Amino acid sequence: MKWKNVLTDLFKVDYPIIQAPMLGVTTPEMTAAASNAGALGSLALGDLPAEKCIELVKQTKKLTDKPFAVNIFVNKIDAITPELENKYNKTKKHLREIAERNEIIADFPDINEIQLTDYHDQIEAIILENCKIVSFTFGNLDEKSIAFLKENNVILIGTCTSVEEALVLEKSGIDVICVQGIEAGGHRGSFLEETIPQIGGLSLLSQVADNINVPIIYAGGIYNAKTLLASKTLGANGFQIGSLFLGTLESALMDFEKQRLRNLKENEIVLTKSFSGRYARGIRNAFIEEIENSEYILPYPYQNKLTADLRKSSKSHKNSDFVSIWAGQSINGYSAVSTGIVIQNLIEEVENFSFLIK
Ligand SMILES: Cc1cc2nc3c(=O)[nH]c(=O)nc-3n(C[C@H](O)[C@H](O)[C@H](O)COP(=O)(O)O)c2cc1C
Repeated sequence: MKWKNVLTDLFKVDYPIIQAPMLGVTTPEMTAAASNAGALGSLALGDLPAEKCIELVKQTKKLTDKPFAVNIFVNKIDAITPELENKYNKTKKHLREIAERNEIIADFPDINEIQLTDYHDQIEAIILENCKIVSFTFGNLDEKSIAFLKENNVILIGTCTSVEEALVLEKSGIDVICVQGIEAGGHRGSFLEETIPQIGGLSLLSQVADNINVPIIYAGGIYNAKTLLASKTLGANGFQIGSLFLGTLESALMDFEKQRLRNLKENEIVLTKSFSGRYARGIRNAFIEEIENSEYILPYPYQNKLTADLRKSSKSHKNSDFVSIWAGQSINGYSAVSTGIVIQNLIEEVENFSFLIK
């Protein structure tokens, strides 16, 4: 297969393969390993304070001199109203009861103690660090930020989950569109509707490709040569891969989480709002069963902040019933080799496969 294309030229990489940004999983080591293997590594900075963003970018630069992307969340944040505060307090009380019942020691902050991230501060940090590729999800950048980033020659990658979202991104001048199929692990990037679009990758990618004129990256379910080549056939110029890297040496997941993934069955993979208030795909567990479809789900990022210490504390006790382990629909071996090896193996498999089907 001919790998060189519009995206390898734009990103200055050997392969149009993008290691997906995965907050909580991606490390500077993973990002650098992907870039060093000739792909585009992505560093997940979503919701992190600007100082932390700078620290992670600096660490990554020490490990690679190749291009890599940084990724941020650009969601709108609901103002704190008396109604929201009231609902927050009820949810907090309920979560505290769950924690006590399950003997988990966790802190549940008051709504006014929550630290909210302003993505504009992250953009300042990104420019300061001279990052040249920025991907984003959960919305679109505002006009001023787009102009500011473009003045600084930053390439912008926006995430869509419907044709309508793709058109919004294209119209505002975003350079590359990442189409996220419903198969994808982690949070949905949706931003236009209250009820999220649940369009399968096959339909969505083909329709976005028919309707927009900027390069397309596809994300969702790619885990081998067949799935990569299928997305190429449907119009993808680039291939963003997340779940395939969850078990790697550079993944920040703990061993018990990697083991849980390796025992995963297809009927355990669900789309849930219960941990963060935003739909995300991951492994069903006791917390999801108790909270999903209940009245105790706040809008993102409030639910995410409120459950943060519960998740952290459960993680430190290796309690997979109360942590969010995100994963996509393509179950794979979650192999424990390095990110670079996973990429090399995939490239080799694609080359052999393309040779076979010629
Ligand atoms: C654990 C995990 C965390 C994720 N975190 C982010 C993130 O921080 N930013 C983002 O844009 N996408 C995030 N995603 C979504 C990926 O960018 C991508 O859409 C997805 O992994 C592709 O589907 P796949 O997992 O089937 O490969 C995450 C995915 C996973 C599995």
